[in-house]
Amino acid sequence: MTPFPRNQWYVAAYRDEVGDDLLGRTVCGEPLMLYRLQDGSVAALADRCVHRRYPLSMGHRDGDRIVCGYHGFTYEPSGACAYVPAQTRIPRTARVPAYPVVERDSLVWVWIGDPQVADTATVPRAPWLDSPGWTVVRGMEPLAARYGLLVDNLLDLSHETYLHGGYIGTPEVAETPITTEVDEDARIVHVRRRMKDVACPPFYARSTGIEGRIDRWQDIEYHPPCLYLLHSRIAPTGVEPGPDGDDSAACHAEIVYAITPETETTTMDFWMVARDFATGDEEVSRFLAESNRTVVLQDVVALNALEKVIATEPAGYQELSINIDTGGLAARRLLRKLVEQ
Ligand code: FES
Ligand SMILES: [Fe+2]
Repeated sequence: MTPFPRNQWYVAAYRDEVGDDLLGRTVCGEPLMLYRLQDGSVAALADRCVHRRYPLSMGHRDGDRIVCGYHGFTYEPSGACAYVPAQTRIPRTARVPAYPVVERDSLVWVWIGDPQVADTATVPRAPWLDSPGWTVVRGMEPLAARYGLLVDNLLDLSHETYLHGGYIGTPEVAETPITTEVDEDARIVHVRRRMKDVACPPFYARSTGIEGRIDRWQDIEYHPPCLYLLHSRIAPTGVEPGPDGDDSAACHAEIVYAITPETETTTMDFWMVARDFATGDEEVSRFLAESNRTVVLQDVVALNALEKVIATEPAGYQELSINIDTGGLAARRLLRKLVEQ
C-alpha cells in the first residue's frame, strides 16, 4: 500500500517562490518542476525528461516552453513535446505528465493523483494568509521524517510543555485535557484545549503586550492530509467574546501548517503565523518569525530522532496511546481511509 493519499491537494510551494525560474520540488515521491507562465498562472510538470530522465528544472525556458538542458527536447506547459533534435517526427509518447495546480491563500497547491478527479473546490482554505487586517510570518523546514510523525506532533500540543518550554510551552498546556471531535463528512479532526487563568508564554507575552494571566484557547482543525490550522486565542483572563460574537478585545493567531510528504521518510514542513494584533509592528514580526522558527526546529530535531528510532525498531513494535492521543489517532484513521479510497 502506498503511504500517501494521492487523490488530494498538497502545498508544493509558497506563491512567491514560483516565478520565472524553474523550481524543483518533490511531492509524494513525484519530482515536479514548477514555473509561472506568461499569463501569470503556474504550471507543474514532471521533473524528468522523457528522453534520458534529465531533470527539466535543470533546463531553461523559451517563453512558456521548457528546453531540456541535456539534448534539447522542448515541452509545452501541457507536457506535450514540441521539438526533438535532428528529426521532424515527434514520437507520440514524447510528453511528460502535467499536474493540476491551483493558487489559494498565497499557497500553490498541486494534485498528484488522477487529474480527471481533481476538483479545485475541494482545496481547503486558510484565508488569513492573504487577507487585509492580518500580518503573516512564515518559513519552510525540511524534515528527515515521515509526514505522519508531523501529523501526530501537531495534533497533540501537550508536547509544547516539554519540547517548547520557555517559548510557547507552559505547564498548563500538558495539564489541561482536550476534547476531540471528528466530522466524518467534511473529513476534519477538531481538537480543543481551553485554558483559563494561566501563565502567558513568552511567545505571546512579548508579541501581544498582554501583561499578567490569560485565557488561552487552542482550537485545532486538521484537514487531512495536508492542511493544519491552529486557531489560537489569547485574552486577558475573564475577557470573553461578546454575545454578538465580537471578539475584538482578544488577540488571535492563526497558525497554519502545510504538511507535504516528499518521500516516504522526508517531509516539507511549511509553517505560517498570521496575527490580527500589532499588525504593523516589524519588531513583533521579527520576534514571531524567529521564535516560531526556533519552535519548529525543536520539532524537527525531535521528529528526525523518531524517524531514526523507527528505522531500527523490531517489526510489530507497539506504541502506547493515552487520552492526549485521541486527535492523532483520529487523524491516522482518516488518513488510512484516504489512502484506501
Ligand atoms: S534527457 Fe532531455 S533531451 Fe535528452
Ligand atoms: Fe511542536
